[in-house]
Amino acid sequence: MIAVQEDLTTKQQLLKRLSDARKQSDALFKLVHPAALYDRPIPERHRIVFYIGHLEAFDWNLLHANVFAEKSFHPEFDRLFAFGIDPVGGGLPTDQPADWPSVESVRDYVGTVRRNLDEKLAHDTPEPGGEAKGFSLGTLLNVAIEHRLMHLETLAYMLHQLPYDKKISQPSSGFAATPPVAPRMAAVPAGVAKLGLSRDDSTFGWDNEFESHEIAVPAFKIDQFMVTNRQYLEFIQAGGYEIRAFWNDTDWNWKTERGIAHPVFWKKAGDAWSYRTMFEEIPLPLDWPVYVSHAEASAYARWTGKSLPTEAEWHRAAYGSPDGRERTYPWGNALPASRFGNFDFKSWDPQPVNAFPAGDSAFGVSGMLGNGWEWTSNVFGPFPGFQSFPFYRGYSADFFDGRHFVMKGGSARTAACMLRSTFRNWFQPYYRYVYAGFRCVNR
Ligand code: AVJ
Ligand code: FE
Repeated sequence: MIAVQEDLTTKQQLLKRLSDARKQSDALFKLVHPAALYDRPIPERHRIVFYIGHLEAFDWNLLHANVFAEKSFHPEFDRLFAFGIDPVGGGLPTDQPADWPSVESVRDYVGTVRRNLDEKLAHDTPEPGGEAKGFSLGTLLNVAIEHRLMHLETLAYMLHQLPYDKKISQPSSGFAATPPVAPRMAAVPAGVAKLGLSRDDSTFGWDNEFESHEIAVPAFKIDQFMVTNRQYLEFIQAGGYEIRAFWNDTDWNWKTERGIAHPVFWKKAGDAWSYRTMFEEIPLPLDWPVYVSHAEASAYARWTGKSLPTEAEWHRAAYGSPDGRERTYPWGNALPASRFGNFDFKSWDPQPVNAFPAGDSAFGVSGMLGNGWEWTSNVFGPFPGFQSFPFYRGYSADFFDGRHFVMKGGSARTAACMLRSTFRNWFQPYYRYVYAGFRCVNR
């Protein structure tokens, strides 16, 4: 008999996942030379030390208030480390290293929070199905786990920008040898995209993943592979950054004011281009996906006479099939494994866009999950029936401001659990540091 579990995950499994994620975040901070912990590798974001405190303050603020009604032992740090910075508007942060507490005191806080929460979680958990503002402990633990896993990724691309002599190099997992990429487009017939999660599903999802609904999608063609560095180089050589017609007004102004003329991961080395991977500089890998901002992706698409996919088109290309049923993953229903794509922390950097044919979707679209998030043309917004989590009102709602775009797919640093089809990521269109690229569609 197959037992249908209410939550698919027991408390013990969730606690193990939390403990594993903590080990991963500890290991990530160890990559940074201690003297660089007060550096700010990305001007719009916090100094590195903030995130050491943030991951624990988040868990504490979430669990002590909503589950344990525990009195805080460090209210000042609970507040100081509560929220990160979203790089939109308001100018750049101006705080100085001396404005932040010592690493020792932050590490003490981390240790105390963990001991406290672990003790409480081991003993005083709510009744089975126990509720916190109407949500199960399982939901809150998933929030804590996935929040930390997301920061493993945002921290990775932040540490990516740190000079090499300030971090401890890790062995490369090697780059796949693949035949040259032959770009082509795959046809996707008209059909329906089933977006979102139903509240009756037992799967965990963030507030922005609800509700489940269907969108009719007219036939379109989509690039089989993500746009490569080689293709993007042709755009640059064709004067892509200088030709006004490829850019909308605000994107053009942004690019011009900042003097941006190439992707942030590229570096001009004399006549040639080099590429800054996580731990070394190498000649530009032409068959890797190009990582660019939404503004640069949109300009490239206009140059080719194509467009960025809508969220529904992207979803249909990834999960749809000729028989009308949707797959759990582009390749089928098997759980994520390394042969299907470059995700789940197996690599620090991209692989060639054609390296994972086993991960192809039913419509023959390649590399939809992993190897870089993919920009869509959708402004990030609520699905019909959206409700914010009462214990975390601002997770998505703070970004329903018309200034963020939906990204789908995942990168090398995206945890496997967030490869579920309903997961939605978002950033503002001028954020160049994310592991995000794109592919184009023709309608
Ligand atoms: C969902 C990746 C856009 O990094 O701003 C982390 C995730 N929210 N802490 C972000 C998040 C709060 C969020 N993204
Ligand atoms: Fe956060």
